[in-house]
Amino acid sequence: MLIPKPRGTLSGALFEAMRSGATSWDDVRAVEPDHDDDAQIALWTLYELHYRGFDNADDALEWEPELLRLRRTLEESFESALRARYTAPESTEPFADAFFEYVAGHDGRSLASFVHRQADAEQVRELLGVRTIYHLKESDPSAWLVPRLPVAPQAALMELQYDEYGTGDPNRLHAHLYARGLEASGLRSEYGAYIDDVPTEVLEQNNAMSLFGLHRRLRGAALGHLAAFEATSSLPSRRMAQGLERLGFPQEMVDYYAEHVEADAVHEQLAVRVICGSLLESEPSLVDDMFFGAFTCLDLEDRFAGAMLEAWAA
Ligand SMILES: [Fe+2]
Ligand SMILES: [Fe+2]
Repeated sequence: MLIPKPRGTLSGALFEAMRSGATSWDDVRAVEPDHDDDAQIALWTLYELHYRGFDNADDALEWEPELLRLRRTLEESFESALRARYTAPESTEPFADAFFEYVAGHDGRSLASFVHRQADAEQVRELLGVRTIYHLKESDPSAWLVPRLPVAPQAALMELQYDEYGTGDPNRLHAHLYARGLEASGLRSEYGAYIDDVPTEVLEQNNAMSLFGLHRRLRGAALGHLAAFEATSSLPSRRMAQGLERLGFPQEMVDYYAEHVEADAVHEQLAVRVICGSLLESEPSLVDDMFFGAFTCLDLEDRFAGAMLEAWAA
């Protein structure tokens, strides 16, 4: 993957410095982002240094202290914006019931319902492209959590992740199932191929997962996010599969969503009751951040759906 196109003054200065290997980072850190899109693409690019990196940036930049400092500044304002949006539940007890009720009560806009009945093939192709930013590294942000958990939630998270990573079979690995669906649909399957086309909302979704995953203090938010994600996946995946069939998409693309209908019906129980539930037994104070993480997952998906539906309506 190559460094993405800049979206403003900060990302312009940062990406140029990353490509050329600048020795003075002060000039970059002195630049303020023009707007959220500029800040989010800069943060996404800094996070990617911790995943697969870039063909045109030195791998050593991952631990460049000046870039970590810039990352922290961007993260602080992003985290405060996310916390300002959050509305806490009225009750958090008993946890699993309160959690499922909270998720069910968040009635956001649904791209899957639109794909199911109304979308045309071009709109779906656009959606499949922008979704690659997450689906081609599906579950990677949750992998950061593994060494940060006590034994019971750690074992349960690994059970869930073992499924996501294909139970030992590369052909069953979820990110790879998505890549095969893209190829069969005539779309690009290289990681990051569509990064320049994605709206800010997609960057926010992915940055929130990296933010929660990379900070141990935010492990409650990371697991709440994971649990809300799994709990809102099974039914929408069925709608996506039916919409793709309606429009005649190849079986490989349908299979990716079909796989998630049953898998995520199991994962939601595992994530809410066992992973989050057992962690709360030893660390009850994490409950607030679990709901914050869940809210962030649902709210960012709602914002993303709103952005796509409004753009198509226009
Ligand atoms: Fe998956
Ligand atoms: Fe899952």
